[in-house]
Amino acid sequence: MIKVLLFAVLAYFMGSLPNGVVIGKRVKGIDIRDFGSGNSGATNAYRVLGPKYGIMVLVADVLKGFIPVMLADMAGIRGITLILIGIVAIVGHSLSLFLNFKGGKGVATSLGVFLYLIPYVMLVVVAAFILVVYTTRYISLASIVGAALLPILTLFMPIREGIDRPSIFIISLLMGLFVIYRHRTNITRLLNGTENKFKVK
Ligand code: G3P
Repeated sequence: MIKVLLFAVLAYFMGSLPNGVVIGKRVKGIDIRDFGSGNSGATNAYRVLGPKYGIMVLVADVLKGFIPVMLADMAGIRGITLILIGIVAIVGHSLSLFLNFKGGKGVATSLGVFLYLIPYVMLVVVAAFILVVYTTRYISLASIVGAALLPILTLFMPIREGIDRPSIFIISLLMGLFVIYRHRTNITRLLNGTENKFKVK
């Protein structure tokens, strides 16, 4: 029980690390939340800081989901408890200890968590994400499609040994709904036709 609590604290702490905000302040002396979509995540970092730092934030945000789950797995934590450690990291990203319990939309950190737990499913999700970005230029729409697709794929695709299908389905469904809810301002902009389009810089 102590071990699970320690990993939950580690996951929340790592998830809370506001990479986009820190890198923006370090490299350009700005808070990326004052620009673009106002989000602290990798998409807005790319938009505001450019590709190099956007990709850096993306990798860092993916890793802060992947690493705590991987370490918890290595420490022998299994099943639904392991999945929940990952969820704590995603919640940390969206309700960050360092940003007055505000934060990003959870996409990159969810990618890291689920890439560890259900890598085959995530390959399909990432492929669908890229396809939506390629055809529409909307990262937010691609994120929403990915979040909706994730639980559906867990129903029939191969999943990691030790992870049971009903648990990963229910939790990924709840996380998908959470990520979609975090995109509510994007959904309004998509419906109004005012959403930012992804531009290769
Ligand atoms: O990962 C967040 C992305 O889906 C949307 O980001 O900055 O356009 O709101 P943004």
